[in-house]
Amino acid sequence: LDHFLYRNGVLHAEDVPVAEIAAAVGTPFYVYSTATLQRHFKLFDDALEGLDHLVCFAMKSLSNQAVLKVLADAGAGMDVVSVGEYMRAKAAGVPGEKIVFSGVGKTAEEMRIALEGGIRQFNVESEPEMLVLSRVASELGVVTPITVRVNPDVDAKTHAKIATGKSENKFGIPISRAREVYAMAAELPGLKVIGIDVHIGSQLTELEPFELAYQKVAELTEVLRADGHEITRLDLGGGLGIPYARSNEAPPLPMDYGALIKRTVGHLGCEVEIEPGRLISGNAGLMVSKVIYVKEGEDRKFLIIDGAMNDLIRPAMYEAHHDIVPVVEPEVGAEPATYDIVGPVCESGDTFAKGRTMAAVESDDLIAFRSAGAYGAVMASEYNSRPLIPEVLVHGDQFAVIRPRPTFDEMIARDTLPEWL
Ligand code: LLP
Repeated sequence: LDHFLYRNGVLHAEDVPVAEIAAAVGTPFYVYSTATLQRHFKLFDDALEGLDHLVCFAMKSLSNQAVLKVLADAGAGMDVVSVGEYMRAKAAGVPGEKIVFSGVGKTAEEMRIALEGGIRQFNVESEPEMLVLSRVASELGVVTPITVRVNPDVDAKTHAKIATGKSENKFGIPISRAREVYAMAAELPGLKVIGIDVHIGSQLTELEPFELAYQKVAELTEVLRADGHEITRLDLGGGLGIPYARSNEAPPLPMDYGALIKRTVGHLGCEVEIEPGRLISGNAGLMVSKVIYVKEGEDRKFLIIDGAMNDLIRPAMYEAHHDIVPVVEPEVGAEPATYDIVGPVCESGDTFAKGRTMAAVESDDLIAFRSAGAYGAVMASEYNSRPLIPEVLVHGDQFAVIRPRPTFDEMIARDTLPEWL
């Protein structure tokens, strides 16, 4: 669980009243809990106890350097998908030996930077990528460890936009072709095949798809070993889901996921990596926003708030549910109200929830979106010329701005006019 609780009727982030942060930084903003980040990382680390393992945080879910530092200090490695993420992880002090590089479209330039800066392994996703990596590594006179990402063709049973392990998805090589691709890799200079990588999707709320995928990886390990490859490391990806609606969802626990990993691949004597993002960062963050207007529509009430789809795009993009709570706890027995909760952006898609029943609120009241730590700030944009909102990190009774809100002038000054205008 998390460290965002009501105390004396007001929502706190650890020991800090959320309203106090709002007064200091203005709304909307993201706030993260150090204790929750640490706790969630430890759940995974403990779940794999007994196996040689590394938990690599999928930093695409939340990439602020302060957050990376908290997790790296706890022992995490990082899973990166671009050279920007790689450089951010390095800037946060993560050593190259703890960074794995995933992604279907790594460029030669990205490979070069990672090879020069140090990398734990590349998770290679295609033959053309393998050829380029072989060339770049050879030019630099190094041999880099690689795994090949296999697509196990299992149904992750999650939202279509975040499922990655079916044959129609762009990710990995079909598991049926793995032997020939590994044979090719073994012949290429600059590469050392060390393992297998798999990731089947995100926000998985059942364990069965993982079980099917990891069984296939275990079988493949034996087959590749029989072919003469030294398979010593398995990267099992991320994807464990979180409860977004507190009331009625109970996704699997990291402990059970760890037991599943031990059961399916534990006998192979491999080092195991996992790449969780959402389960570590999701419930470690809130987006806090302020009510601008309560507007009476013909047949409904609109809650118009100062946060919008550009700040938190998940509801607009995936019809995602986020629990939305008032920062001041409603009195026992207070009448709730039902709203369409919308932002100020000029699109009907700028809707966070339709017909949501929650505590009645008024203009200037603060509300908080729960489970907004993952894929929140990182997916934000400045659409409608709304500057990126700030990020705040709480630790006990302290809080610090870890990314300030740009001023309007800063945002506008990034445009440059050509000389002929
Ligand atoms: N490893 C790889 C190779 C991935 O592609 C992903 C997520 C992860 C690990 C981490 O998955 P997680 O544990 O966070 O589920 N924007 C979407 C989610 C996209 C996930 C992309 N890949 C959302 O807001 O739901």
